[in-house]
Amino acid sequence: MPGYNLIRPLLFRLDPEYAHQQTIALLQIASNRPPRVARLTERYRNKIPKLPIELFGKNLSNPIGLAAGFDKNAVAFPALFALGFGFVEVGTVTPKAQPGNPKVRVFRLDQEESIINRLGFNSKGLDAVLGNLSAYSSRIRPGILGINIGRNSDTPNERAIEDYLACLGAIYEYADYVVLNLSSPNSPGLRVLQQKSEFNELIHAVMEKRDELVDKHSDKLLPIAVKISPDLESEQIDVIAELSLNHRVDALIATNSTIARTAQVSHKHFTQTGGLSGKLLTDQATSVISRLASTTRGQIPIIGVGGISSAEDAWNKLLAGATALQLYTALVFQGPSLVRQIVTGLAERAKRYDERNFTTAIEQARNQL
Ligand SMILES: Cc1cc2nc3c(=O)[nH]c(=O)nc-3n(C[C@H](O)[C@H](O)[C@H](O)COP(=O)(O)O)c2cc1C
Repeated sequence: MPGYNLIRPLLFRLDPEYAHQQTIALLQIASNRPPRVARLTERYRNKIPKLPIELFGKNLSNPIGLAAGFDKNAVAFPALFALGFGFVEVGTVTPKAQPGNPKVRVFRLDQEESIINRLGFNSKGLDAVLGNLSAYSSRIRPGILGINIGRNSDTPNERAIEDYLACLGAIYEYADYVVLNLSSPNSPGLRVLQQKSEFNELIHAVMEKRDELVDKHSDKLLPIAVKISPDLESEQIDVIAELSLNHRVDALIATNSTIARTAQVSHKHFTQTGGLSGKLLTDQATSVISRLASTTRGQIPIIGVGGISSAEDAWNKLLAGATALQLYTALVFQGPSLVRQIVTGLAERAKRYDERNFTTAIEQARNQL
């Protein structure tokens, strides 16, 4: 397989969504052939220094995860693990298959290393995704697998709980953690589920359902995470933090893409409707993490995501209070060697505070802020 610096110019000549489909198709082919996964593992994963952290009571080889939306239908995660991610989140999956919004719906802002997308939960649906998950279920995973779930766009919010519960029950056996996506800007009305009464009702129902499922699945307690928007007001973040503490939510994922356009950017695509991700989101996402960390008093792990494209960005999110990190957009612009680059840079920074234990190093660095 040629290096990303050779592939990138070809991919960037294509429509962004088509380029992504081609990439996923290649990664799917690799995923279906264990010797190819082994070769990718040799080339990428095995070259990444170990930087262990604990997430959901499990040990990860490094804190960098792949964010949701890259492998929406869980067709390519074995190859994605081979690229070196400590954890991979597939989805968003919706109960029924749905096409999403009309095309064209993904736009690259090359100079800004940012993307605007309004895909709108294009998903092959639960049945297809379950088929893919079960086909790969005998494979040993070198990291943990999250499954991100959402509601269909024609399901009104009053019935959204049914969609989340259906997804939760179906994916339970395959996931290492599940994510309730309440923050896609492209699914009309979805983000209302982050408001106090809607959020409370949904989390209550999900936690109750999980208690039932634990018994059915030989005591497996699936961690529940909630993914939130970067466009929430501080008070709304506080409400989510408090309710998440009350309901013992296992993690908060901050953040999804933004509908805000605060920067001065002259790119012709900057005014496209949709969620903005990548470098233009970095600081906004970090602020949300800081606020969450202070309101939750560090009692809920935060997975920090939004515009991480360097070790410096990753380090800043850890200092702001994140336990683990995810990225998507920077992978498009920089390719898979980015994971090694970030992990190596984090390890160097951490060493200044504690030679041996990464988690202690972060704590020390936070104390010195
Ligand atoms: C093309 C595209 C599709 C996405 N699809 C999803 C999705 O299905 N579910 C979700 O929770 N987040 C989705 N996201 C958001 C990412 O998971 C992530 O939260 C966001 O892009 C910020 O991270 P980044 O700046 O590293 O990309 C998508 C992002 C992009 C660019």
